[in-house]
This record gives sequence, structure tokens and C-alpha cells, in this order.
Amino acid sequence: MLVVSRYFALGSSHLSVPSLDAFGDILRMPPVTRPTAMPEKPQIADFMALKGQRKIVCLTAYSAPMAHALDPHCDMLLVGDSVAMVIYGMDTTQNADLDMMIRHGEAVMRRRKSSLVVIDLPAGSYENSPAQALASASEIMAKTGADAVKLEGGTDLAPHVKCLVDSGIPVLGHIGLLPQHAVAGAAFRITGRSEEEASQLHKDADALVEAGVFGIVMEGIIEPVAASIAMGCKVPTIGIGASAACDGQILVTEDVLGLYDAFTPKFVRKFANLQDDISAAAIGYRAAVIDGSFPTKDHLFWPKKP
Ligand code: KIV
Repeated sequence: MLVVSRYFALGSSHLSVPSLDAFGDILRMPPVTRPTAMPEKPQIADFMALKGQRKIVCLTAYSAPMAHALDPHCDMLLVGDSVAMVIYGMDTTQNADLDMMIRHGEAVMRRRKSSLVVIDLPAGSYENSPAQALASASEIMAKTGADAVKLEGGTDLAPHVKCLVDSGIPVLGHIGLLPQHAVAGAAFRITGRSEEEASQLHKDADALVEAGVFGIVMEGIIEPVAASIAMGCKVPTIGIGASAACDGQILVTEDVLGLYDAFTPKFVRKFANLQDDISAAAIGYRAAVIDGSFPTKDHLFWPKKP
């Protein structure tokens, strides 16, 4: 098939691309016999096997040191297009581009060990056609060696997802609140409040599963709707402002660490306040430089003794 050879032509033949049958096999295993931890060199099937075993732990990562710190504690690291807002201080995720996602994907891949690494397809790089999605996803996969890509959308994007999956590129879906479609400056709108929206969300999830996603991120969906989708979904559902019934949860790491203060969505819990720690360190450094207590003679280089 043309699309397959195009993907492999980009140099990604070292990647282990799971077949959809492999997904089916693992999901047919009774939950008690599935593994509960991600191995080194994780495969999509290892991630899927966590469904029904224990909750799946996911965070975003954009840099090598963050990947190093988070990898032992996560099942998936997402190189999200939230990088545009959180790291670059841009107004929306719509400002992320392919080069940005590849650069940060490469950094994360250098330090990951056992977490699955998924990279967002940025806005404008995939929506036009399945062929556009395939070209962008192939470039990301080949240049970073990541395990999968994520894209935002439901029924409309199912043909794009199918094209990637048929070409051997694993895809994580993302439905509900879609930041790539949000209007800059406007509040993010929670979805699923009307019957039409709830029914569309169910159709979105079904269409993505049918197209071959290995999991679905569900963002900003009212709880009962998110819970009913999660409970009927064959693949792992990862919630963010959705439901505790999801198979796992994801948050933006900078939110979790208290490193991003532009705004904090209701669904975030801060598990640390590193901005305060950084300020305290800077205050200490400033005082030591000004009062001359840093550097000491131990921090400096001296002539070798003859
Ligand atoms: O870009 C991102 O960080 C995301 C998560 C919020 C799911 O898509």
C-alpha cells in the first residue's frame, strides 16, 4: 500500500508498530491475567492492557529533564500542543506547529524509559485530509521515534484516524473540549450539556474506536456523559475534567506542579507550588550574590600546587 511505504520511507522501520489484532488479543484477555506495569520499551498493547487492571497515569512532558523525572511514575507522557501556552507563553495551542512538536518530542524521547510517548498533531497539520494527516504524522513518528500521535476530533476525523492506523501509526483520539478549536481569549466551554451534544460525543467515541484508536482522551465533558462513554468504551479512556470512571487521568504537568499561573482550570489539582520554590531560590541567590556569600572559594578554580 502506498501510504505504508511512504511512512517507512521516512526511516521509521525500527518502530514496533502493533497490529490491530494485537490490540484485540490483549483486550480479550481476562483483566486478572493482564500485566499491571509498563515494561521498558513499552508497546501500545502494554498500555491497553492496563484497562481494567488499575487506573492509567498520564502527564504532559515537553523536555528531557521533565521526561526523566516523570517517566518512572507514568504510563504515558504526552508531548501536548499545550507546550505553546505553557512553555512559549502563547495565547492558544493553535500556535504550536510541527517543528515545535518534533523538537519537544525528540527531547522527551531522549529520557523516556517505560512510558508510552504520544505527540500531538498540531492545529493545521492534519484536518484538511487523511493524506495531510498521514504526511504530518509520518514526519513526527520518523523524526522522534515516538509511539503514537494524538489528534483532536470525532466523527469528522475518523477517516483521518483510519488512514493513519492502516498505515501503521497508532493514534490516540481526543474528544469533548477541543482546545485547537477554541476561540482565543474565550473561556473553554464544557461539552455534553444538551442531548444533541451528549449524543454527538457518543458517536465521536464510537467512530474513533471503529477507526482504530488505541485510546481516547476525553476533555471537559460533563460527568454523567463522560462516565457513560467511558463505561461502554472498548479502548482505554483518559479523562481530563471528565469523570473518575475513565480508565485513567491526564493533566498538564505545569498545572500539577504549580508552574503555570496564567489560569487554572477547575479540573486541575496542584500537587506542588514550584513557582513559590523558584521565587524562594531566586531570592536566596540574589541575597548571596549581593552580600558576597556566593561564590565561596570552593566554587572557584585555583592554580595547581607546584
Ligand atoms: O495538549 C495537551 O496538553 C493536551 C492535554 C490537555 C490532554 O491535549
